Amino acid sequence: MALTGLFLITFLIIHCTINAMIFLNDGGVTFSHWGHFMGTNPVIRTLEIGLVAGFLIHIFQGLLLIKKNRDSRPVRYQVVAPAPNSTWYSRSMGLLGTLLLLFLIMHTAHFWIPNRANQFATGEELNLYQMMLSIFADPLIVALYVLGCISLAWHLLHGFWSAFQTLGLNHQRYNAIIHFVGTTFAIVVPLIFALMPIAIYLNWVN
Ligand code: HEM
Repeated sequence: MALTGLFLITFLIIHCTINAMIFLNDGGVTFSHWGHFMGTNPVIRTLEIGLVAGFLIHIFQGLLLIKKNRDSRPVRYQVVAPAPNSTWYSRSMGLLGTLLLLFLIMHTAHFWIPNRANQFATGEELNLYQMMLSIFADPLIVALYVLGCISLAWHLLHGFWSAFQTLGLNHQRYNAIIHFVGTTFAIVVPLIFALMPIAIYLNWVN
């Protein structure tokens, strides 16, 4: 889970950086330039297969982990008071992951699936920038995207740190730095993502 999680984190950095080009407010020129590169470069298109596999393995391993946890204690605790030694979000990674999966199903149906289907059928890419402007004109969709980003933030808040711990990369000397970088990442990246639908809806970007 740690390795696929870190791999997905690198994807998020690239995805967020390219999408943040919309904030240049240049009518989507810079965003479309990089979007075109990502959507047509053969190396990136091959890596995309790895990305789909990364998501599937991460989800499958998460489900296995939940099952393993349940099976190792078939008789439930009568009293559950876990608050002193764990956070609610570290105990809710399955729930947060499921919310993210629902978000991803909606999100890929909005952009990725129609774009790849069109590329497959006609060889042409769709105008993703114009699609964003029309999709984020709906306040309900904007709200669902913001909720997806909040789930992402909580999921990363535990996931980032947990990945380092699982790989044995935590050390008393560096733990404070890892916590700081993890917390900053878990807040800043989802915040930038959430600002995209909000900025388009409010016409800050057009
Ligand atoms: C909230 C702001 C976001 C916007 C405006 C946005 C926009 C886009 C767009 C336009 C594409 C299509 C790219 C293409 O067809 O080449 C895409 C693809 C994708 N997005 Fe997002 N995205 C956002 C957030 C997220 C988040 C938070 C995640 C993950 C948790 C995510 C995961 C993906 C995935 C897996 C793909 C398909 C992979 C690929 O293009 O190779 N996105 N996104």
